Amino acid sequence: MPVKFYLPENQVPLEMHKVRVVQKLTLLPVGERLKAIQEAGNNTFLLQNRDIYMDMITDSGVNAMSDLQVASMQIADDSYAGSETFNRAKAAIKEVFGVDNVLPAHQGRAAENILAETFVKPGMFTLMNFHFTTTKAHITRLGGEVLELLDKKGLIPQSDDPFKGNFDLKRLRAVIKEKTPDKIAFVRVESGTNLIGGQPVSLENMLAVCDICHEFGIPSVLDASLLQDNVYFMKVREPRCKYMDTRSIYQLLASRFDIIYFSARKLGFSRGGFIIASDRKWTDRMMEFVPLYEGFLTYGGMEVRSIEAAAQGLLESLDMDYISQGPEFIAYLVKELDDYGVPVIKPAGGLGCHLNCSEIVPDIPHDQYPAAAVGAAVFIAGGIRGMERGTMSEQREPDGTERFAELELLRLAVPRRVFTLSQIKYCADRVKWVWDNRKLIGGLRWTQEPKVLRFFFGRMEEIGYWQEELVAKFRKDFGDSL
Ligand SMILES: Cc1ncc(COP(=O)(O)O)c(C=O)c1O
Repeated sequence: MPVKFYLPENQVPLEMHKVRVVQKLTLLPVGERLKAIQEAGNNTFLLQNRDIYMDMITDSGVNAMSDLQVASMQIADDSYAGSETFNRAKAAIKEVFGVDNVLPAHQGRAAENILAETFVKPGMFTLMNFHFTTTKAHITRLGGEVLELLDKKGLIPQSDDPFKGNFDLKRLRAVIKEKTPDKIAFVRVESGTNLIGGQPVSLENMLAVCDICHEFGIPSVLDASLLQDNVYFMKVREPRCKYMDTRSIYQLLASRFDIIYFSARKLGFSRGGFIIASDRKWTDRMMEFVPLYEGFLTYGGMEVRSIEAAAQGLLESLDMDYISQGPEFIAYLVKELDDYGVPVIKPAGGLGCHLNCSEIVPDIPHDQYPAAAVGAAVFIAGGIRGMERGTMSEQREPDGTERFAELELLRLAVPRRVFTLSQIKYCADRVKWVWDNRKLIGGLRWTQEPKVLRFFFGRMEEIGYWQEELVAKFRKDFGDSL
């Protein structure tokens, strides 16, 4: 539970760990930041890490390891089959989730591929609270269709609803009846719903989804990649969870969902992925795809040291001191910005802070990529790299017209255990400056637009000279400070 400070004005989230290995950072002068973002085609994916002060593009595979994780990597058992490392990972999964049946995969999307190959046939539907990019890609690739049944409150940018990731249970029932159960490949609940701002799903809602699935004989699947944040929110926001320990929440979920999969780049503070089930009939159905796509059943394409680190990291996901750090830092950043008037997605979720760019730069139309423009401005202002989650991240319609995103967001991810609070304060300060100077921000246009996954590889340029004007204003306000 948060430590209370004597003087309320001193209250900040307090880290329950100390830093024992550090990595040097550089903060380029503003003129060089301008050059770097322009050379990267205003696409933050194309920036070089050496040019970045705070890398807030993702929380995936970039979380800080603990001393015990680093130590565990020294005893990794590098054998193709029957590795002791895999046995230790299974034991950790048993400890956390209480289940015995485990399949390894090289990361979360590989687990999704196996799941889709096993259950999705052309013309079938998968129902979920909200899609994730890679999940949807695997399902549609096999001729399946994704239907999103998020409770509509989930898409209201600013609200105080504690569980914006919840399923609309009425619609779930209605859609199952309308499409008929035999046409539903599976129902997937995404914990810590990524693309709507890392918003959690309540325990009650998850269990109700499982009940409906069991009633209709449809497999229930939990994407647990962001479950550690979600468990933290259950503990602090859901009355029935207050007196449950974290282990009993993980284990209750594992006893009710047919299948759980996750990216160990997030859950496990490491790399890799796993599919688990309490009944082995599910893992038996998926097993043959592991050697086909991943590697033998005791490593699944993962490097053994990562498996050891994931095993220890999973145990740490039981520890409220560890799992509270990310959400508390994010809540701090969101509050700082919200108090100043910067439009952010509320309430604070897991994963990161999301700036609502449609309100920051309301005059920039969708087809001049407002979230990417704000992303470039935040980099110029502070050497801070965020990720565009708006129209730039969409794909054009087959006839070439733009598909405008429902929300134009810039995500500032907060990797777990990585940043200090002074860095979070620095980030808030620079974003406030961007907000105060938002009128200077202009649009972007493509110079190279790939047909597929354009947000990864595409390049854009500023319309006009607004970035040079932003730099001039920075110099005026900050003098020769970096
Ligand atoms: C909710 C969710 N599911 C699945 C994935 C895919 O995991 P990975 O990046 O390990 O392939 C991610 C990754 O960001 C995610 O956030």
